[in-house]
Amino acid sequence: MITAQWAAWLEHSPLGEWMRTSGSAYPIVNLIHLAGLVLLLGAMLLLDLRLLGLARKFPLPDVSALLTPLAAGGLALLLASGALLFAADAGPLLDNPLFFIKLACIALGIANALLFRKLWSGRPEAWDLAAPALGRVQAAASLALWIAAGTLGRLLAYF
Ligand code: HEM
Repeated sequence: MITAQWAAWLEHSPLGEWMRTSGSAYPIVNLIHLAGLVLLLGAMLLLDLRLLGLARKFPLPDVSALLTPLAAGGLALLLASGALLFAADAGPLLDNPLFFIKLACIALGIANALLFRKLWSGRPEAWDLAAPALGRVQAAASLALWIAAGTLGRLLAYF
């Protein structure tokens, strides 16, 4: 199958070989992946809980302005380092259903965040007075999707 051939090519490419055989590459990239996880999950946890009504004394536009760039930076680190981790073990990962569920959670999390911006970013001040039900569902879904992606990433080492 074409994906299996591609996975074998990637695994045995200079990048894949380097990620697997260099003693320090995989641990360092893994640490970068974890740093991205802390930035993304930490920022999204606080932002989504604020959107769901927690800590209303902090103005939403300020909270969003502080946390959104941190979350985006974390996501960028995760995507770049995740691609390198994938190159080291592409074949086994493509055989693992958990990996596809994790990728689906990431894709849904990104789509949800973009849709949220498009629908509601014009009215952050009004949010606390009349938060739209769909917006609240999106904030809860965001929490669930990012926590699921992080949990599945950790579980990949065991299944
Ligand atoms: C497309 C983007 C991503 C790719 C390709 C990717 C790929 C990977 C790979 C290959 C591993 C190593 C799994 C193993 O032990 O065999 C990993 C670990 C992990 N990933 Fe990702 N990842 C991505 C994004 C994310 C995101 C967005 C999160 C969190 C929200 C995340 C959380 C984790 C966690 C917690 C680990 C375990 C790290 C450890 O145990 O040291 N990843 N990822």
